[in-house]
Amino acid sequence: MSTPTITSSQQAIDTEHQYGAHNYHPLPVVLNRGEGVYLWDVEGKRYYDFLSAYSAVNQGHCHPKIVGALTEQAQRLTLTSRAFYNDKLGAAEEYICEYFGYDKALYMNSGAEAVETAIKLARKWGYMKKGIAPNKAEMVVVEHNFHGRTTGIISFSTDPDSTKGFGPYMPGYKVIPYNDVEALERTLQENPNICGFLVEPIQGEAGVVVPDKGYLAEAHALCRQYNVLLLADEIQTGIGRTGKLLASDYDNVKADILILGKALSGGVLPVSCVLAADEIMLCIQPGEHGSTFGGNPLAAVVAIAALEVVSEEGLTENANRLGEMFRERMRRLITQRPELVTLVRGRGLLNAIVIAPTPDGRTAWDVCVALKDKGLLAKPTHGDIIRFAPPLVMTEEQLHACCDIIEEVILAF
Ligand SMILES: Cc1ncc(COP(=O)(O)O)c(C=O)c1O
Repeated sequence: MSTPTITSSQQAIDTEHQYGAHNYHPLPVVLNRGEGVYLWDVEGKRYYDFLSAYSAVNQGHCHPKIVGALTEQAQRLTLTSRAFYNDKLGAAEEYICEYFGYDKALYMNSGAEAVETAIKLARKWGYMKKGIAPNKAEMVVVEHNFHGRTTGIISFSTDPDSTKGFGPYMPGYKVIPYNDVEALERTLQENPNICGFLVEPIQGEAGVVVPDKGYLAEAHALCRQYNVLLLADEIQTGIGRTGKLLASDYDNVKADILILGKALSGGVLPVSCVLAADEIMLCIQPGEHGSTFGGNPLAAVVAIAALEVVSEEGLTENANRLGEMFRERMRRLITQRPELVTLVRGRGLLNAIVIAPTPDGRTAWDVCVALKDKGLLAKPTHGDIIRFAPPLVMTEEQLHACCDIIEEVILAF
């Protein structure tokens, strides 16, 4: 059988539709090249990327340093499994521990896998250190969370699209409202078997929902008081995206278990990681957890390069500076089109605008299609929200060019 050749966008879309599962609803654009903040489609049209693969491409597309590390290592050694040592994993563990200030690191692949790992770790700690009776450990989570798609994780999702038709669900989770310290305190008071509180410092998938200042700090203090671990899912918010290295830094909180993914590889291959103190991480013993690809030497060199790029190029500071400018420009749209743009929110370069449906029924989706036609790629979430998350390597000039496109589309909509 010959290899199919894709020569036009429509052909690519039709082929995916025919042979692929219909588990996504992509914007109708077919990309075949990326560099920095730009993407190109099959017909050669250039776009600004304003999604960054859901914040995985913070360092920009095909960053030469990261791709260089990947290609060099790909020619030496790609996978050993953890049955043996390799000469790259230890360095990547040391590097990430120093970078974020933890004792130990456990590399995995996808974000969901890292979240599962963190939950297992917290449960194990709950049994071994907190003295919870066997199989009684519980975890507090919040409404509108997004932590991935495994059967375990969707068991505590509150989004019907994630859960409906996929039961039965795993017990052991207490769902409370987000940004509600009193609800957390009540729950911790009533349930001595709670081992952890799993939370996104900013809820990305929910539509870039930023909690009140001090929320995470107060939640952490309560966790301390009730001997419960704080698990920060910074898979989307971490690694410079929100204008601090971690979104938890806004509250000066150091989570007991830190969960990273996405930009940990600059979008080059799946790498995720869980970080914790010895007291927690060493609760897991040889043979109790693992993954064939987790900690492979290719991922190890890529993770180091990806983190180096963030600090060497000042991407966190850039996200902070450009984020202020972006929100300032977007707020002007609320004044100009208050019936259409109802809210602007976010931190650093993780932002969202809320779009009210037009009288003739057009929605945020149609705004995104219009943006695409003008050369900017963004994606709606929950029907009425557009998330704006460009690569952090964007320049001020590029940002203003993008704001001009958004403004033009909104004003003409
Ligand atoms: C906060 C958060 N946690 C977990 C995940 C799941 O990551 P992955 O898609 O790599 O499994 C995501 C993905 O969007 C996320 O935003």
